[in-house]
Amino acid sequence: MDQDRSLSIETKRIKVGTTFDFDLTDKFGRVVLKAGRTFDEVIRTRMLAAGVETVTISVMPDQESTTRLLLDCYPLESVVELQNILAQTEQGLQAFVEDTLKDRRTESDVLRNQLDRFLGGVADDTATALGVLAVRWSSNPQQPDASKLIARSTRLAWLAMITGMEMGLEPSELVAIGLAGLLHDCAWFVHPEWRDPVFRSERRGEFVAAYQRHPFESVEMLNSTTGLGQNVLYMIAQLHEQSNGSGYPRGLRALQILPAARILNVVDAYLEIVDPTFRKNGIVPADALGQICFHAVLGVFDREAVRCFVDTLSAYPVGSEVDLNDSRRAIVIRSNPGKPLEPIVRLLDAPNEVTDLLNAKIRIDAPTPGGPSFRRLQREKEMGIPFWDATALLDPEE
Ligand SMILES: [Fe+2]
Repeated sequence: MDQDRSLSIETKRIKVGTTFDFDLTDKFGRVVLKAGRTFDEVIRTRMLAAGVETVTISVMPDQESTTRLLLDCYPLESVVELQNILAQTEQGLQAFVEDTLKDRRTESDVLRNQLDRFLGGVADDTATALGVLAVRWSSNPQQPDASKLIARSTRLAWLAMITGMEMGLEPSELVAIGLAGLLHDCAWFVHPEWRDPVFRSERRGEFVAAYQRHPFESVEMLNSTTGLGQNVLYMIAQLHEQSNGSGYPRGLRALQILPAARILNVVDAYLEIVDPTFRKNGIVPADALGQICFHAVLGVFDREAVRCFVDTLSAYPVGSEVDLNDSRRAIVIRSNPGKPLEPIVRLLDAPNEVTDLLNAKIRIDAPTPGGPSFRRLQREKEMGIPFWDATALLDPEE
């Protein structure tokens, strides 16, 4: 690890809404914003009034915090920049949805700009973005439904774009995929009752019928948005279609579905399974990928899309905690292209040691339940359950 792990920023340059995973200190070393707190307008005003013109972000490796162990592995400037873009994208999406719900004229430019910034920020190295996502995704499972949906949509956009990047897609297509990821669940905002388990269980048939129309409903909501492009609307309409015809709303099959929609479909299913609030804490990423591969063999998912997604994340995605065969534990900080079982890890009991499992005698035994979000292992009987469709929402614990 680098010895100097601090970065100074002018207070006025910090974007309101950014949540830092490190303490912010003033020039006297006093903490002005604790790790995990969001830099909001009140804090900004207070800091500027107190003459805090510059803050320092410092990383102090702490064995108790896997978040810090993970983020400490990437260039601090990139981490802060990506956290900034993440916050701005989520705010942009929030404002966009509010405008759409109020029937105001919306345009896609603000969201496009954030996705362009994201592409620029990860052009050379996607590991930092995956690390930032792993931390943020796990940090606040109790947040309100609307902001959870915003956070989920942003992760869908980023992960699908990263997968597309690894496949060599053009930037314009990547941005289109990102827009579809951000906006495909717009209809959920019109139906807060869908998040209510009592409503779902009491009105099962009605819920399933309405829910399975949500891609179309989202498209209808976005019809008057300027600058979106027909291809984005098609991706949104097809995002829940699956290769064997078991998807919705139309039950399209394989080649009837746009390749980009097939990628989004796989990433969306993955996010459903690893969601920290899904079925008691969500399931560890390695097991989630295992389940998706299993269903790809059955023909549910597009095999090429699954192959690219697993290639991108590796079998143990960045942020996964793993048990090694020498009885030690580690956190995955980076994957090795083409070697999904041999990523680069940081040992939890020796945080300064980074081990490339490609060149080491030790190997991974299994994913560790827990990790930053305390996710659990998948139960064997769950392997065949299509967690990504309406039945999983109807019977969340069965
Ligand atoms: Fe959806």
